[in-house]
Amino acid sequence: MFDNKSILITGGTGSFGQKYTKTILERYNPKRLIILSRDELKQYEMQQIYNAPCMRYFLGDVRDSDRIMQAFNDVDYVIHAAAIKQVPAAEYNPMECIKTNIHGAENVIKAAIANKVKRVIALSTDKAANPINLYGATKLASDKLFVAGNNIVGAGDTRFSIVRYGNVVGSRGSVVPFFKSLIANDTDSLPITHPDMTRFWITLQDGVDFVLKNFSRMQGGEIFVPKIPSVRITDLAEAYAPGLKHEIVGIRPGEKMHEIMCPGDDSHHTIEFDDHFVITPSITFFGKENDYSTNNLGEVGKLVEQGFEYHSGNNPNFLTTGQIRKLDEA
Ligand SMILES: NC(=O)c1ccc[n+]([C@@H]2O[C@H](COP(=O)([O-])OP(=O)(O)OC[C@H]3O[C@@H](n4cnc5c(N)ncnc54)[C@H](OP(=O)(O)O)[C@@H]3O)[C@@H](O)[C@H]2O)c1
Repeated sequence: MFDNKSILITGGTGSFGQKYTKTILERYNPKRLIILSRDELKQYEMQQIYNAPCMRYFLGDVRDSDRIMQAFNDVDYVIHAAAIKQVPAAEYNPMECIKTNIHGAENVIKAAIANKVKRVIALSTDKAANPINLYGATKLASDKLFVAGNNIVGAGDTRFSIVRYGNVVGSRGSVVPFFKSLIANDTDSLPITHPDMTRFWITLQDGVDFVLKNFSRMQGGEIFVPKIPSVRITDLAEAYAPGLKHEIVGIRPGEKMHEIMCPGDDSHHTIEFDDHFVITPSITFFGKENDYSTNNLGEVGKLVEQGFEYHSGNNPNFLTTGQIRKLDEA
């Protein structure tokens, strides 16, 4: 579906954007693959690796509606990945996080509708489910904006959906690079927030593949949640530094013991498929009740039980230390 089409990735120089670019170039022949982000150095460095004739590098800020409006000209598909995503930075600079994650989302929606973009997928996070920190709250607001975008479009054909997943193995600013740098500096212990803490765990490639597939599945308005494994933080430390002492440092502000992907309060509109869940919109669009139990690929799902919650602590699938190491090598 991406052959001879124009695709734009906001935040295209980030961890997700680069993997997405690599995957698209390996599997498809797009007309244009547009990277939109602010920092020229990151773009310059990315251009040294990805310089196929279809590549375009646009400097731009999702907060700048004029620039986004112009950049979306003649674009078929948009992946919205640009975000401020570090929890402490968002707490300390709340308005900056709101401007990028919420106002930026609004600009993306308006530009997509005005330019008749066919489909938009916005990346969300488990931290947006029952949020307790500003990052998560802004991503929840962004999710709501994208869902409502399907109404704002009126008679137009643009469709908006969301992909929500958990921690990406080894992404910028995450725990694995942090542990690795401590280990490389001969630390005599690894800091553990709480011995019972768990997190969802996904590889960048699995995240990219899930997004790609959902462009075919989507009708508009869905929050797609992949079924992915969990890790115990203690197993993570053990996987990277077997036998090294753990120092319990306590849960930090804005952190949960377990991350939630599908909240119990959404269970009455959460549908389970073989390898993913769909949280369906609580509002109706397109002047009719949409049936989300069968998606555009013909996959059939079933409403979960009332009160069902999918969180990293009750996940039936936990990785062992050996599996964590294997995933890291991959
Ligand atoms: N990494 C994870 O563990 C994880 C988990 C779940 C969900 N997600 C979501 O996945 C998405 C991508 O994450 P990532 O790990 O790829 O992040 P990342 O590596 O930090 O990349 C963020 C990208 O956004 C760009 N950006 C930031 N502010 C911008 C703005 N105002 N206008 C335009 N571009 C801007 C950055 O480039 P410049 O700084 O040059 O602008 C960079 O290209 C985010 O929406 C995040 O919330 C990530």
